Amino acid sequence: MQEQMASVPFPSSDRRWKLVESAMRRHGHRGTALIEVLHTVQESFGYLDDVSLRFVASSLHLPKSKVFGVATFYDFFRLKPTGEHTCVVCMGTGCYVKGSDALMKTVERVAHVKAGETTPDGKISVMTARCIGACGLAPAAVFDGEVVPRMDSAKIEDQFRKWLDSETHDVALEDMPGVHRIPHAEPVLASV
Ligand code: FES
Repeated sequence: MQEQMASVPFPSSDRRWKLVESAMRRHGHRGTALIEVLHTVQESFGYLDDVSLRFVASSLHLPKSKVFGVATFYDFFRLKPTGEHTCVVCMGTGCYVKGSDALMKTVERVAHVKAGETTPDGKISVMTARCIGACGLAPAAVFDGEVVPRMDSAKIEDQFRKWLDSETHDVALEDMPGVHRIPHAEPVLASV
């Protein structure tokens, strides 16, 4: 099959889009890569939102309805951050050798959650990623969508304690801009 280069501009200057683009390029921007690409988006950003789904649809030359349908059909895709705050700790090789394992241990000690979990009070969702495209800044983490360079245990503990001690804002996540769910989406993977 002929390889097709992406011509879709990134939604923002966030370098994590380069990871998504790499995943798509590995598959020649073919629609069959949809699931893997969505996994890459989720690993990089923590969840799939309207912007990322539209970007993936355009880049893979798929109807948006198909991409939204797959994203909403499978339970393993999240369409919104489940916690009030999100923390993604990069566990890629570049970050791992610089101590991201210790960062996760700090997270577990301070917030009593593991990767993929949300604190019982709904304040923080913790995720890990294989690489967030900021290896020169290792070890890196992403706090509420912002890449934070050269993370250490003291810094991550400080941020978590601030979040945990903060007043809970009554955020209606369903009403967040960019979060859309297609209520009766059909599984469309077989026809991708
Ligand atoms: S390995 Fe962590 S940013 Fe690349």
